[in-house]
This record gives sequence, C-alpha cells and structure tokens, in this order.
Amino acid sequence: MTMLKVQGLSAGYGAADVLHGVDFFVEQGAIVALLGSNGAGKTTILRALSGLMPARGTIDFCGSNLTPCNAAQRVALGLAHIPQGRGTFGDFTVEENLAVGAYTVGDRQQIASDMERWYAAFPRLAERRQQQAGSLSGGEQQMLALARALMSRPKLLMCDEPSLGLAPAITEEIFEILKSLNREHGMTLLIVEQNADLTLQFADTAYVLESGSFTVSGAARDLLGNEAVQQSYLGV
Ligand SMILES: Nc1ncnc2c1ncn2[C@@H]1O[C@H](COP(=O)(O)OP(=O)(O)O)[C@@H](O)[C@H]1O
Ligand SMILES: [Mg+2]
Repeated sequence: MTMLKVQGLSAGYGAADVLHGVDFFVEQGAIVALLGSNGAGKTTILRALSGLMPARGTIDFCGSNLTPCNAAQRVALGLAHIPQGRGTFGDFTVEENLAVGAYTVGDRQQIASDMERWYAAFPRLAERRQQQAGSLSGGEQQMLALARALMSRPKLLMCDEPSLGLAPAITEEIFEILKSLNREHGMTLLIVEQNADLTLQFADTAYVLESGSFTVSGAARDLLGNEAVQQSYLGV
C-alpha cells in the first residue's frame, strides 16, 4: 500500500520557490531517503509535509488529503516529524519531553504504556527519566527526539538529518535504532540526510534533490556508488 503520495509539491520563503513541484511516494513499511547537499530543499519538503509552512500541490497520506489540515491535525493522523537539530526541550526532563510528544493522544493509560514501551527500547533514556534533556549527549538527545516522536503513535516517522553533529560511531548506533524501528516495530520511515553512502546502505528507495527538484531516484542499492548521485553532491 502506498502510504504517502506527494505530487507537484512546491513551497518557498517569500516570493521565491525553493521546491519546484516534486513528486514522490512512500510505501507502507519502507525506508525512503531524501538525499541532497546543503540548501537543496530537503528540510523544506519535511516542513511542507508536516504543515509548518504553506505549500502547493497534493499530499495524500493514508487516503486523506492533508492540504486542509494544520500541523496538529497531521500529527493526529499519524505523521511525525523530527526536525533538524532534534527539537527537544532542553529545560524539560526526558519524561516531560516524552509527555509533550503525546499531546495528540488523549488516553492517559495509553500514554503510560507507550512510555514504558519506548523506555524498554531505549534503556539509556529510562536511566535518565528525570534528567534535563539539555544535559544529555548528542546521541541520547537524538534517541529522545525519536522516542518523543514515537509517543504520538505515528504511522510515518520523518527524520531530518539524524546524523547531524554526531560522531560516526554514534551515527551508526542511531541508524541501527532506525533500522530496528522499521524491522521490529513496523515503522515506515522517511529519512532526510546529507550522508548519502550510509543512508543508501539502509534505505529501500532514495530520491536525490538538487536545487528543489529530484535529479535521480530509484532503489537505494542501485544508487550506491552511482556517478550521477556523486555529481549531484559535488554540484558538477
Ligand atoms: N527561513 C528561511 N528563509 C529564507 N530562506 C530559507 C529559509 N530556510 C531555508 N531557506 C532557503 O531555502 C533553500 C532550501 O533550504 P533547506 O530546505 O533548509 O535545505 P536543506 O535542508 O536541503 O539543506 C536554501 O536556499 C535556503 O537558504
Ligand atoms: Mg536541512
């Protein structure tokens, strides 16, 4: 089943568009990567999808047209967005951050059981429940950002540059977590990354964005080492 179908998505800041009518889709259960160099428009795509900025085009998510929905309604429909830079609240404890993530979920018992589920999946967060998020390491903050997004019970988890600012070993750990969320918890993932090699090794499908348009797309394994992908990054 196609979970997300995006057609002719355009968006920009002020008068100028930075996205020029992009089309892509995400199958249920898949890991889809949006790749591209700095400034290509990757973050703009996620912001447009989650309703944080106005956009044109059509966004079909699990059979619903998202265009008339605001950001909170999109979260309630199952679209979670982990922003670039993580977006956790540094002055709040780990537990308070998780509670904020559940703001669209009304049932207290469900919130409590989800919290225990994600503490079990992220034992380092469980050990730091009462610690301020700002005092966590970069890798732990990314884990918290993931767990917080999972508290909204998403169908699709969108993650903007999870590797940003992390050492290579920590990045690998985060990608292992993402892989297990997909394989063991059935989570569909839309990952934005500049780190093409690493991402192509674990995604199913990838789209390469250059100046607001896709230049290359296909099965991730076919794009690994692809010359056009490299050129897109080097801007040749
Ligand atoms: N708040 C903003 N105001 C004006 N221009 C912006 C803003 N955010 C991003 N841009 C511009 O939009 C383009 C795409 O940015 P972005 O989507 O952040 O790219 P990426 O995430 O691929 O690095 C860039 O040229 C960037 O300078
Ligand atoms: Mg970005």
